[in-house]
Amino acid sequence: MKRSGNTILITGGSSGIGLALAGKLTEMGNTVIAIGRNKDKLEKARAVISGLHTITCDLGRPGQLDELVVQIERRFPALNILINNAGLQYNYYWQEEVQLVDKINRELQVNLLAPALLSAQLLPLLARQEAAAIVNVTSALAWVPKEDAPVYCAGKAALHSLTQSLRWQLENTRIKVVELVPPLVDTAMTAGRGKGKIQPAALASLFAERFFKGDELITTGKIRMLMGMNRITPGLAERMMRKGG
Ligand SMILES: NC(=O)c1ccc[n+]([C@@H]2O[C@H](COP(=O)([O-])OP(=O)(O)OC[C@H]3O[C@@H](n4cnc5c(N)ncnc54)[C@H](OP(=O)(O)O)[C@@H]3O)[C@@H](O)[C@H]2O)c1
Repeated sequence: MKRSGNTILITGGSSGIGLALAGKLTEMGNTVIAIGRNKDKLEKARAVISGLHTITCDLGRPGQLDELVVQIERRFPALNILINNAGLQYNYYWQEEVQLVDKINRELQVNLLAPALLSAQLLPLLARQEAAAIVNVTSALAWVPKEDAPVYCAGKAALHSLTQSLRWQLENTRIKVVELVPPLVDTAMTAGRGKGKIQPAALASLFAERFFKGDELITTGKIRMLMGMNRITPGLAERMMRKGG
């Protein structure tokens, strides 16, 4: 995969990890399109990243997702990299949560269905390019869930599984399937929790370096250690996550 001249769609490109990826990949000489729900946040992103394209879309609404696909095909026929990064995490206990059904629907729609549907609908366009990639942003919580985010963790575990199957299905094509497993990153999603967070820009640099080298699983040493610990002593990994992951 060449390092510049790509056309890259980043969902959730208006803040946190997605915004940092948008900045890094634009700076490297790629055309980047950032997707988000909030128009003001997208405008602010355009103000800091020169040349950034933005499209407002609520990925939790299937009709808007279909319209996004039509718009991408029409305006960006050279699209060759899709980064499924948008996500949300609600923390709640099932016996106490009054909006339980709404929250379950929303989390699964944005964290699992949207990446699956977007990848499926953009597949024909990606398949026409010389080199293409689908990048799914999962989480260490796909391996070891935490207590107060059952649907978030289940959605990420399913997205991890889908990523692996799709990679096998597409291994004889020009489309690579990549998984980015961030460590704890200092973003709106993690505000007020956790220690030892890294900055989104540091993750974006790590991603750019590993992605263009051809890695299919991109993560940090700390997360690899948690994955290893989960294989060797799953009880210890579980206790760590229950304490506050
Ligand atoms: N931060 C971490 O430590 C961490 C660790 C592991 C994995 N991750 C994963 O990394 C990804 C990015 O997380 P982050 O920490 O950067 O979160 P963030 O700062 O909260 O950003 C989330 C992004 O997703 C967008 N988004 C959310 N719902 C959407 C929807 N319905 N339609 C369109 N866009 C939507 C948001 O845009 P709007 O504000 O406009 O809705 C925003 O741009 C997520 O998939 C998350 O699960 C994060």
